[in-house]
Amino acid sequence: MSFNATPFIERRARLLASMRKAGGGVAIIPTAPEVMRNRDADYPYRHDSYFYYLTGFTEPEAVVVLVAGKESRSILFCRDKNLEREIWDGYRFGPQAAQQQFGFDAAHAIDELDKSMPALLADAPAIYYALGHDDKRDAQLQRWLQGVRALARSGVAAPGAVVDVSVLLDDMRLFKDSFEIDLMKRAGVISAEAHCRAMRIARPGLLEYQLEAELLHEFRRNGSQYPAYGSIVATGANSCVLHYRAGDAELKDGDLVLIDAGCELDSYASDITRTFPANGKFSGPQKELYEIVLAAQNAAVAEIVPGKRFMDGHDAAVRVLAQGMLDTGLLDKNRVGSLQDVIEKGDYRQFYMHRTGHWLGMDVHDVGDYRDPPAADGSKPWRTLQPGMVLTVEPGIYVRPGEGVPEKYWNIGIRIEDDAHVTATGCELLTTGVPSKVDDIEALMRQG
Ligand code: GLY
Ligand code: MN
Ligand code: MN
Repeated sequence: MSFNATPFIERRARLLASMRKAGGGVAIIPTAPEVMRNRDADYPYRHDSYFYYLTGFTEPEAVVVLVAGKESRSILFCRDKNLEREIWDGYRFGPQAAQQQFGFDAAHAIDELDKSMPALLADAPAIYYALGHDDKRDAQLQRWLQGVRALARSGVAAPGAVVDVSVLLDDMRLFKDSFEIDLMKRAGVISAEAHCRAMRIARPGLLEYQLEAELLHEFRRNGSQYPAYGSIVATGANSCVLHYRAGDAELKDGDLVLIDAGCELDSYASDITRTFPANGKFSGPQKELYEIVLAAQNAAVAEIVPGKRFMDGHDAAVRVLAQGMLDTGLLDKNRVGSLQDVIEKGDYRQFYMHRTGHWLGMDVHDVGDYRDPPAADGSKPWRTLQPGMVLTVEPGIYVRPGEGVPEKYWNIGIRIEDDAHVTATGCELLTTGVPSKVDDIEALMRQG
């Protein structure tokens, strides 16, 4: 598929417009460094999300500089062409081809960055940069500033302010454009298909990492570059360990399997959790708790409507989960009191200890403020949902063995997670390609 630079050029233009509105300046956004894993082997390279958002450029050793002055300019610094290195490591665009393909006003070799920056920063009212994330970059910026100050005698002024550029970018990234939504839909389709594959293949005797391999196979064969995060494949008691990763435990007849896995496609994450019985048939107690979690998810999804607040979905899910905990005896009414008491005192947290969702985008836990600006009374209300936002909906129940906890529920861990795109009238789920109803899961597993 040919590369489309238009969305990236538009984003740069929008950032430059906000900078100009605030008086102008120069934004400096570097990509991520390469990181060694062990002797001569590096981690798979993943570009920085902010940098990619503005450029579409995935090579390491690159910096984009946006100048919002009398006229606006976007300049890329990237690795030069180098035949010797390209023989070993593969193609590099080099400045000339990168400028054309990615639509920059200018592009230079990264080796020229130190020499160029003092002049670019001269007389700029402000620097837009995310300070405090990388010591080496911060020290480099300091050297550039010293370089500008050294020019002071020639009548040049150094920037008077440093503005955290990520604040502007976070708010842009929170609202996905149609190009992003399209990618996130495709990522959702691939991840859903991977979950279906795992459900069809699962059976007692298989190992967690063997199911993980099926997920990775499906991600990669559909063009996903990496998993968006370390896949969780947890069976039996492991399903109650929130950050468990696929291990070597065997799927046992009568146990559940919880899979939380999603692919990254062209820099965009998907994030799905499904829970299903290893043997293809939910037991009575498993089904009881499963139906509560599913009802909680439906209640949360119903709250994803423009104008509602980020936490409304969580509050709705908690009401359903807490009522379910009282109905099943997970929480003893005589000990904890009414539904209202359970919610107010937080006793439900014994079995549900995380939030019902998070922003989703290029990062699985994506950027974006969870609060609106402070109200007149100083309070900071939860963020109002608006079209273009994407968030996960992921209630769960995790029952560790314990005194007073009915034994039939021990070691049952259930989470159901889907990705929701806020539309003008409600939300659209991006991950419905894998079933979540009990009958539909059992029917799919019978195809295995
Ligand atoms: N997979 C990470 C999460 O669900 O938040
Ligand atoms: Mn999630
Ligand atoms: Mn997840």
